[in-house]
Amino acid sequence: MHSTVLSDEEFCKILGEFPALKREINGKRLVYLDNAASTLKPKSVIEKMTDFYLNHYSNIHRAVHTLASEATVEYENAREKVAKFLNANNEEVIFTNGTTMGINFLVNSLVKSGILKPDDTVLISQVEHHANLVPWVRLSKLYGFKVNYIEADEKGVITHDSIEKAKRYVPKIVSVTGQSNVTGQLMPIEFIRESFKDSILIIDGAQLIPHKKIDVKKLNIDFLVFSGHKMLGPTGIGVLYGKKDLLEKLEPFMYGGEMIDKVTFDDVSFNILPYKFEAGTQHIAGAVGLGYTIDFLESIGYDKIESHVKDLSKYLLEELMKLDFVEIYGPIDDSHQSLVSFNIDGVHPHDVSHILDENFGVATRSGHHCAQPLMSILSKGSKIDFPNSTVRASLYIYNTKEDIDILIQGLKEIRRMFI
Ligand SMILES: Cc1ncc(COP(=O)(O)O)c(C=O)c1O
Repeated sequence: MHSTVLSDEEFCKILGEFPALKREINGKRLVYLDNAASTLKPKSVIEKMTDFYLNHYSNIHRAVHTLASEATVEYENAREKVAKFLNANNEEVIFTNGTTMGINFLVNSLVKSGILKPDDTVLISQVEHHANLVPWVRLSKLYGFKVNYIEADEKGVITHDSIEKAKRYVPKIVSVTGQSNVTGQLMPIEFIRESFKDSILIIDGAQLIPHKKIDVKKLNIDFLVFSGHKMLGPTGIGVLYGKKDLLEKLEPFMYGGEMIDKVTFDDVSFNILPYKFEAGTQHIAGAVGLGYTIDFLESIGYDKIESHVKDLSKYLLEELMKLDFVEIYGPIDDSHQSLVSFNIDGVHPHDVSHILDENFGVATRSGHHCAQPLMSILSKGSKIDFPNSTVRASLYIYNTKEDIDILIQGLKEIRRMFI
């Protein structure tokens, strides 16, 4: 029977792909718990990208010479891998430079196409990363549509109840994160889809896609955006998936280059999907590298990635809950995965993060995590003098329970230093 647990041999092989994990920081082994910001990169993917750059690189789609056609084949292969990965069609996969660009693309294109009109409502949640909040809020001021929110409770949790309540807004568009980068909560995408049957559903997959397999057809998602760099892939490459019929109605976000069909001094017509949306020279090696990354992740098996991250998340949450001086944000249940945000009473998160790095070799993130409005909600529910920021520990496939033990030991010692 197929096991969903990584064997010791498989895990050792994974570790061998990340030489940084053998590094020492001030005499301590590096424990990398900043995966929600960006993950490490596998050696084999970098080697394949190097070979691509050294031996097969050229601009794509334009010239007829051998290098150009090899690079084009690799680039289009990468698109096909992404499409299969999501259960989409090739023409529904557009390369972007990341999640932020994907959402900006959508807001602008939806407005320009007349799909999002003045007085329409866009529904987002109160736990969104700025990438899925700032573009909507800012452009609502310029174009006159409204932005409403699915409310979070004082722990930053989105409940089914709050989703139900938001039905009263009758939104044209619902744009929500698949997983919060602050509370770690996995959003109930199926329930949201079910609750807003007639709305265009956009999912910010930045935190979700790295450790959860998403079938866009099964979930009936209209648009999905994510970044390569949070799933072991190169920086500067991302994906926007869109349903074909919607993409066909969308005006491009950017113009120029290969996105055209015919150009005269007076008018332009556009290329077919997906090229219509890829203006200018793309991050060719980045897209190719993302394809290699998907090969890498699939060679491990997404079921094993999911279960490894799930087990570690449970352990991290349980161990943190044993520390009575730690305040944890987000849900205390199975929906809390891959990362935990917390504070030590009386110690600023920047100090915690700094000492964890300096004294224990543990890399975490501290700050508002590009979610300032959510910080104001967490502040209301906090029992400590909330510093408008948190420490965040985030996990991925190369982490172990021992990494978590080192973090916990570090937190205990930091607490001792400050009392
Ligand atoms: C939930 C979420 N959305 C969007 C983003 C933005 O991603 P990027 O900076 O790769 O565009 C992030 C990054 O941390 C995120 O966590």
